[in-house]
Amino acid sequence: MTGKTKVGIIGLGFMGSTHFRIYRDHPMSEVTAIADIDEAKLRGDWRKIVGNIGNEDNSQPIDLTGISTYANALELIRDPDIQLIDICVPTPYHKEYIMAGLKAGKHVLCEKPMTRKTIEAKEILEFYKKQNKYLMIGMCIRFWPEYQHAYQIVKSGKIGQIKSATFKRISPSLDGNGWENWFMKEKLSGSALLDLHLHDTDAIHYFFGKPKSVTSFGLKGFRSDHGVDHVLTRYDYENESLIFSEGGWPAAGGSPFEMSFLIVGDKGTIRLSETGYKIIYEDGTIETPNPAKPNLPTGWHVEIDYLLNCIQKNIRPDKYLTIDEMVESLAIIEAEERSIKENKAIEIIYG
Ligand SMILES: NC(=O)c1ccc[n+]([C@@H]2O[C@H](COP(=O)([O-])OP(=O)(O)OC[C@H]3O[C@@H](n4cnc5c(N)ncnc54)[C@H](O)[C@@H]3O)[C@@H](O)[C@H]2O)c1
Repeated sequence: MTGKTKVGIIGLGFMGSTHFRIYRDHPMSEVTAIADIDEAKLRGDWRKIVGNIGNEDNSQPIDLTGISTYANALELIRDPDIQLIDICVPTPYHKEYIMAGLKAGKHVLCEKPMTRKTIEAKEILEFYKKQNKYLMIGMCIRFWPEYQHAYQIVKSGKIGQIKSATFKRISPSLDGNGWENWFMKEKLSGSALLDLHLHDTDAIHYFFGKPKSVTSFGLKGFRSDHGVDHVLTRYDYENESLIFSEGGWPAAGGSPFEMSFLIVGDKGTIRLSETGYKIIYEDGTIETPNPAKPNLPTGWHVEIDYLLNCIQKNIRPDKYLTIDEMVESLAIIEAEERSIKENKAIEIIYG
C-alpha cells in the first residue's frame, strides 16, 4: 500500500481523542472521519473528556477541518474513503463494530477489552480467521516501552529463572467519568476487573504464558454498582513461582494513578515504580534504561505506529499479540471473576 492510511475513529472519549492526536501527528496516517453520538464532540468541543494518564488539554476547540463527521458509527464504517477503522467506544459496542468493519473490508483497531464476554471474542476470532484484513486490539501495555523492554529481558534469560512477580495498577475512582458513567455499570464495563485489571492479567499472560488456574479476592460494589472495584490474584503455573497482580479503582478521586511491576529472577530483579525503571542484578550492577523513543513515548504511540507499518507493508499485525491470545486473556479474567464469587481456585478453560 502506498500513501497515508486513511483512518475513521469511532468514539471520541479519552481513548478516541488520544488516538486522534497520534494519527494526526503521524506521517503515515490521516484521520478522514470521526463518529460519536455526542454532537458536541463532532464540533470539536472535547472539554468533557477525562482520563487516567497522559491527559491532554481539551479546553480549546479542536480543529476538525476537512474531517467527515458521523452521528452513526455504521455510516462511518461504510465510508469508502476509509481504510482503517479505530473503535474507541464503550466495550459493549466492540463486537458489532469489529464485525461490521471487517465485513466492510476495512482493517480494524479496537480498544481493549476486545469484548465484554469471552464468548463474543471467540465468535470474532472464528470470523477473523477467514478474513484478509487485519484486526488488532489496543492492548497497549504489551507495547508500553518499559513493559516491552522488561519482556525482552525476561525472555533473554538475563535475570535467570523467575521466582516471583507482582503487577499493579491502581486508579482513582472513575465515578462520574466517561459516557453516561458507563465505567461504574458492571454490565457495560465489567468494572475494574475487566476494564482496568485486564492490562495486568494480559501482561502476566504475555510474560509467563497461560496460567493453569487463578485464585482471586475482590472488593465488590464499593465504587461501581455491583462490580469488582479492587482485585488481588495469584496465577498458578504449577511451579514454585509466585505470580501476583493487584488492580482496581478503589482510591478516592484525585489519588495518583499507579502502574508498576516487580519481577524477581534468580539473577536479577526488574522494577517499574514511582522511582523509575530499574534492572538490579544479583552482582550489584544497576541499570536505569529509558526505553521510550522521543517520537513514540507511550504504548499507544507504539501500537499505532506498529499497525500503520503492518498495513503499509502488508504484514499481519501479530508480533506483539494475537487475537487467540486476546480470547485467552478474557478467559483468565472470567476465571478470576468466578474465583471471587466461589471463593476458591478456578482452573482456566482455554479454547
Ligand atoms: N488502552 C487504554 O489504556 C484504555 C484507557 C481507557 C479506556 N480504554 C478503552 O477504550 C474504550 C473507550 O473508553 P473511553 O475511556 O474512551 O470512554 P469514554 O466514555 O471517555 O468515551 C466513549 C465515547 O464513545 C461515545 N459513544 C458511546 N456510544 C457510542 C456509539 N454507539 N457510537 C458512537 N459513539 C459512541 C461517547 O459519546 C464518548 O464520546 C473502552 O473500551 C475502554 O475500555 C482503553
